[in-house]
Amino acid sequence: MQTSTLKRQAAVSDSIQKVRHIINNQGVSSAALGKVKKILLALAAQTELFSPADYPTPTVREYGKVYLLSDDEDGSFSLYLVSSHPVGPSPIHDHGTWAVIAGLAGEEENTIYKRLDDGQQAGKAHIEIDHTITLAQGDAIALMPDDIHHIVTTSEEPTRHFHLYGKGFIQQTERLEFNLQEGTTKAVSGAFVPVDESRRVQCS
Ligand SMILES: [Fe+2]
Repeated sequence: MQTSTLKRQAAVSDSIQKVRHIINNQGVSSAALGKVKKILLALAAQTELFSPADYPTPTVREYGKVYLLSDDEDGSFSLYLVSSHPVGPSPIHDHGTWAVIAGLAGEEENTIYKRLDDGQQAGKAHIEIDHTITLAQGDAIALMPDDIHHIVTTSEEPTRHFHLYGKGFIQQTERLEFNLQEGTTKAVSGAFVPVDESRRVQCS
């Protein structure tokens, strides 16, 4: 097996073990996700292990690729490498699980919303933009399960970003999409996201 493959396996395995330890011992909190963010940034700094040679940039026709790198048997701690040409914006959504995004290349613009209502009325939500943050190489954000965002790829250079979730897209059955103008929400499964599992890292 190639040295780079072994290094990638060790790096991903070590990172996920650390993340699993933090979440399982501290639960999901801003403080815990702050630690997860540092771990994911350290992994993202090893760009040579996640190059286009191993995780090809999508063709212009494909727009984007979502590579699954690692997950637990039940879909917990799902780590994806997302590469995209300029595209978006995505629907405004939460994930129903915690998320951390870290940049390796290109710029992914994240717009974060705040919720103004109490969330008690099913199908309704009053939200407004809180702030926008552009994630380039060396940048990361953490999102709690009910944090709301949309993303758009703004750079000419295709993006390469890690997306790490408490549960994988298929298990994200509690996602909500938000209609800003109408003040409504609808439940959407994350299973619509096309995931390429062929380049999974075999973690120990
Ligand atoms: Fe998202």
